[in-house]
Amino acid sequence: MPTKIEKDSVTGRETTGHEWDGLRELNTPLPKWWLYTLYASIVFAIVYSVLYPSVPGITGYFHGVLGYSTRTQVAADVRAMAAQRGVSMDKIKDMPIEQVRENPQLLAVALTAGRITFAENCQACHGAGGEGRPAYPVLADDVWLWGGKLADIQQTITYGIRSGHPDARVSQMPRFGADAILQPAQIQQVADYVMALYGKPVAGADTAAGATVFAENCAACHGDKGQGNREFGAPALASQVHLYGDTRAVVVAQITNPRQGVMPNWNVRLDPATIKSVALYVHSLGGGE
Ligand code: HEC
Ligand code: HEC
Repeated sequence: MPTKIEKDSVTGRETTGHEWDGLRELNTPLPKWWLYTLYASIVFAIVYSVLYPSVPGITGYFHGVLGYSTRTQVAADVRAMAAQRGVSMDKIKDMPIEQVRENPQLLAVALTAGRITFAENCQACHGAGGEGRPAYPVLADDVWLWGGKLADIQQTITYGIRSGHPDARVSQMPRFGADAILQPAQIQQVADYVMALYGKPVAGADTAAGATVFAENCAACHGDKGQGNREFGAPALASQVHLYGDTRAVVVAQITNPRQGVMPNWNVRLDPATIKSVALYVHSLGGGE
């Protein structure tokens, strides 16, 4: 039952005027720091919900007077990155490939672009890491058919190999069997000789006869010791790395009717900066010269 408001003699605070069986209720105010924090939070909440997206509606929401949205923010970031990449790719386009390699910032952009380009366009034939497979050369080793310098690789990718482009790398191993340039017996002899060069000599083979056939018909392209010749893209035969495999049957087939491997010219599909990028990437796989 309400009684009159008076001062409590112990605490010196006012009472609320409520009293139960002689117990009177003190009127203790909220601490000031608490109260001001509450007011500040209310003000902050109002300002925030006016500036930023806040109140939901039926078909949308209140966007806030600043027009901020995480989606537009991300879109802007992506545009900025694309613009940055575009600037770098423009520089790469106008720069000799060796200079791109000397520029750490451009090289990083090029290797990223090159890796993506390789996965999209080259992996199907050359393998995910450039590890190659029969008829498709390894790009991650230091054995090169046409050359492993940056400029060589760039040219190979740009115009291709036997691609039909006028600037393509071309050479034709003659069809020694199919065109009857060699007798069947000579093909067997020179195949034995090639197997010896491969380091897999055939027991009882007459390599002297094969050596003669080789010197007269093959050395012009493959080198007198079978060391290969990049001018013709003629693989080294005195080697453990082979384009088509190392069985005698494969060798006989190649001499009889050469495969004449084709690599597309990429200048019709990829722009010059992208070709430079993928050339730098291939060069970086481990065997670049
Ligand atoms: C359709 C299959 C195919 C695709 C796709 C392909 N290549 Fe090739 N590539 C070949 C063949 C086949 C050769 C070897 C041709 C020959 O000389 O006998 C070759 C050779 C090369 C060489 C020369 C290697 C050397 O030892 O000199 C390079 C470099 C190369 N390719 C890079 C690429 C790059 C980079 C891409 C993607 C942009 C690519 N290739 C896509 C089939 C392909
Ligand atoms: C006009 C140059 C030329 C002449 C001459 C030539 N070759 Fe070739 N040879 C090539 C080229 C280029 C290739 C690889 C390209 C292809 O055919 O796909 C090759 C590939 C080969 C291969 C496959 C190598 C591998 O790594 O798998 C063998 C084996 C070979 N030649 C043997 C011979 C023999 C034996 C002769 C002589 C009877 C001969 N070649 C004459 C150019 C020549």
